[in-house]
Amino acid sequence: PASDPALVERARAAKEALGDRVFILGHHYQRDEIIEFADTTGDSFKLAREAAARPEAEYIVFCGVHFMAESADILTGPDQTVILPDLAAGCSMADMAAISQVEDAWQDLQDAGVADATLPVTYMNSSAAIKAFTGRLGGTICTSSNAKTALTWAFEQRGDGQILGTGKVLFLPDQHLGRNTYVRELGGSLEECVVFDPHKPMGGLSVEELRAARMILWRGHCSVHGRFSVDAVETARREIPDVNVIVHPECQYEVVELADYVGSTEKIIKTIAAAPDGSSWVVGTELNLVQRLAKQFPGKRIAFLEKNVCYCSTMNRIDLPHLVWALESLVEGRVVNPIRVDPEVAGYARAALDRMLALPG
Ligand code: 13P
Ligand code: SF4
Repeated sequence: PASDPALVERARAAKEALGDRVFILGHHYQRDEIIEFADTTGDSFKLAREAAARPEAEYIVFCGVHFMAESADILTGPDQTVILPDLAAGCSMADMAAISQVEDAWQDLQDAGVADATLPVTYMNSSAAIKAFTGRLGGTICTSSNAKTALTWAFEQRGDGQILGTGKVLFLPDQHLGRNTYVRELGGSLEECVVFDPHKPMGGLSVEELRAARMILWRGHCSVHGRFSVDAVETARREIPDVNVIVHPECQYEVVELADYVGSTEKIIKTIAAAPDGSSWVVGTELNLVQRLAKQFPGKRIAFLEKNVCYCSTMNRIDLPHLVWALESLVEGRVVNPIRVDPEVAGYARAALDRMLALPG
């Protein structure tokens, strides 16, 4: 539905009144009514870089989810404030790894005698506390656009320093991104991956299984991307002649294996933008982005991969009323919903984020 014109006008006026004091970042999964006011849009890697590159902005209004705003707070200066327009915009995947569970898991790896050979690599979609755990142990953060580089680097740091050698990675919290990257991009095997279930003693694994594994995958997943199915890909191939299937690497391994293209939201956008008019696409990522692409490229046939998958409910929490509230409050001199990471946590988390930002490419 079209946005309320009065609210659009209020957002425009508040943004204009704040001028350069405010910078609005919008993740690709945000609603159109929010993207319209974003100074920059991007995937989570691009937005982290953008936040770090705006030292002149007093306020960064982050239209995305909580872990992204936390990362922006960690990467920005002490005089800058990051604002999340709705504090209920969390991420179910990030919530699947609590710091106490991760610390217990690390103790299990120590007890099994494999911790020295293991480095944590943590997906951006995690709390600041998990990022700090990662930084404290010398590991790195990754996003869906640099997971291959991050894993390659991590394997070089442990064991015999070979990519498919004796080193191990504890990958948190998205098992699918970890598995897809290790097997499809690094050439590892599925047998070398084990899933650590935080709800079971020792992750539900034996000492032998932990010793034999190269990739220890946390049992986490995205509640949106995890639902795309093999059946949906097969149906699309049957129903749409010459269809191109493009999916996000948070999808299950079996789905990614059947796709023609795999990539972060930024890569999905670039691939479809570069495709010729008349080409057909089914897209396995969040619905706001797929609908926007379909509107943006009317000459291409762009459809959503699965009929019964819906929006990311937490991304959708950020709507125009919340944005207007956050901006008008700033105009009135009040800061609402600031995201402030504890300084000690932020210090270690920053080490892990800086390691990611320093990775080649
Ligand atoms: P990217 O934007 O990095 O592709 O991440 C997708 C996602 O699920 C963000 O929550
Ligand atoms: Fe989290 Fe998935 Fe939503 Fe991204 S799309 S914020 S990973 S639940």
